[in-house]
Amino acid sequence: LPDDPSYRDIWRNHLGIVNGCICLFRPSSDNSFVEMLWMLRNSELRLLPPHDHERKYDIQQRFFYVDASFNIEETLELSRVCLGMPTFVRSLVSPHPYPYSRIQDMLTDGIDTWAPKLSVKRATVDFSSPNIAKDMHVGHLRSTIIGDTIARMLEYSKVDVSRRNDVGNWGTKFGMLIEFLFEKFPDGEVTDHDVGKLEERFDDDDEFKERARKAVVALQSGKEEKYQKAWAQICETSQGGFKEVYQRLGVHLEDTGESFYNTYIPLALKELIGKGLIKDDEGAKVIKIVEGKKLLPLVATEKDGGYNYASTDLATLWYWLNVEKAEWIIYVTDVGQREHFKKIFAAAKSAEWLPADESKYPKTSHVGFGLVLGDDGKRSRTRGTEVVKLVDLLDEAKTRCKAVLVERGMAAKELEQTAEAVGYGAVKYAALKYNILTNCTFNIDQMLNDKACLMIFSHFFNVQGNTAVYLLSAHARICSIIRGSGKDIEQLKREGQMLLQTDDERKLGLHLLQFGEVVKEACTNLSPHVLCEYLYVLSGKFTSFYSECKVVGSAEETRRLLLCEATAVVMRKCFHLLGITPVYKI
Ligand code: ARG
Repeated sequence: LPDDPSYRDIWRNHLGIVNGCICLFRPSSDNSFVEMLWMLRNSELRLLPPHDHERKYDIQQRFFYVDASFNIEETLELSRVCLGMPTFVRSLVSPHPYPYSRIQDMLTDGIDTWAPKLSVKRATVDFSSPNIAKDMHVGHLRSTIIGDTIARMLEYSKVDVSRRNDVGNWGTKFGMLIEFLFEKFPDGEVTDHDVGKLEERFDDDDEFKERARKAVVALQSGKEEKYQKAWAQICETSQGGFKEVYQRLGVHLEDTGESFYNTYIPLALKELIGKGLIKDDEGAKVIKIVEGKKLLPLVATEKDGGYNYASTDLATLWYWLNVEKAEWIIYVTDVGQREHFKKIFAAAKSAEWLPADESKYPKTSHVGFGLVLGDDGKRSRTRGTEVVKLVDLLDEAKTRCKAVLVERGMAAKELEQTAEAVGYGAVKYAALKYNILTNCTFNIDQMLNDKACLMIFSHFFNVQGNTAVYLLSAHARICSIIRGSGKDIEQLKREGQMLLQTDDERKLGLHLLQFGEVVKEACTNLSPHVLCEYLYVLSGKFTSFYSECKVVGSAEETRRLLLCEATAVVMRKCFHLLGITPVYKI
């Protein structure tokens, strides 16, 4: 083996020679691994293809490839199966001390050094996107939270992210809203903040409908100021409500809104017509999308010449691709819109706005999450009283948390902040932990009480379950262990030595080392729940470690405190990426 002193650490950390076989512990995706492979290539040793997951071992070549996803049991099993060598077991279970410098380096240099490297440099995430004059409902909650987490993970991976709120602020319904506004506030000033009430006249009489139709024309022609003013007022009041929700959720968004892209619709359509993609179909303008043997029509302009949802999305996509030069555009909506986006993307491909090869940039993705169902198992509606309002949900979550914290004697000073962190965190985690496609019921009582459904608050004391409360408590517990030791953790970081020696230390350490890869997977597959799962397993591993290994007052105190600290740092980064505020005391 090459004996370059600068690599000695790497060799010692990740390679072991056992009975003539090289055992390579892959440290996670970073350069040291690449360098190791490079060195092996230059040596006499033969290599297994590094990314050939099908062939993790090869007895002929007497080479072991053991990556961080292998736990100790699997590794042992592997050795038994392919070497028939039970003695091997001992050498793995009690090897010489194992300094895990990558974890120690992370503690010194910060968790950002573990951020994944992605090939994309700029991304646009379209999420939340509620509609003006309607309350933001729980479906928008799921979009807001999933979208925010995707944006956070990309930002952590040094991608330049545009967070777009494509607010539904245009279209025929504004005619009714404006007319109703004139009726309700003849003086022209909107005083009522609950613009949701403007909907009450939606299904009203014919005379009203006619006035509303004329109002749309007047608004869209842009000639009469009073219509523009009324529109702006409706948008502003309504958006005030959305802003309050975003503020509470700690979600940052750039409002552009459908109206912004409205002026680009003719341009985008002209291009599509120029490319011969749009056909006239009894007055409507239709793009015929071929999918396998099926022909799917995408109506780009209605019979009366009016624009619709598809026209707006075509123009938006055109703008982002051609003007903003976005590389990866991600839309987060419920799965009900899957067909819509499929057609939009197909149209963009036909127009050569997007390359035919999906592995190339620019590319588009639709994250279609499972429907949010109401009490009755039906899709939750936006109108009427059945809707679970987002603000109510947040209020309720906070109130219930606060009650428990007061009962536990939390000082007033920390009460508000902790109740918000735990309450809002619970709501967010509930929105994130499911596989994207799973339908979920977002009934507030269920969310707060039903163990089978979301198990958020019911186990505050004996918190088990996969909930934010459990995870936040685990983190708070680690912090209290460190505080309780009376040691200066910064000094330990500088002077202490990180070691993973016992089985439980090692299991926890290996899991920590997978963090970057997990974030990468969650980003590239657009699956935030993968990160939730990782965090949940991490808490479990910490619990087993802590129940087996004495920390404070033990002979191994220093290295174990460092491991506690590393776990807390990784957990906090997970919370950050999930948009959850960590708590240090519960
Ligand atoms: N406003 C739409 C709704 O509430 C969602 C918009 C999603 N974004 C988009 N570019 N179509 O259903």
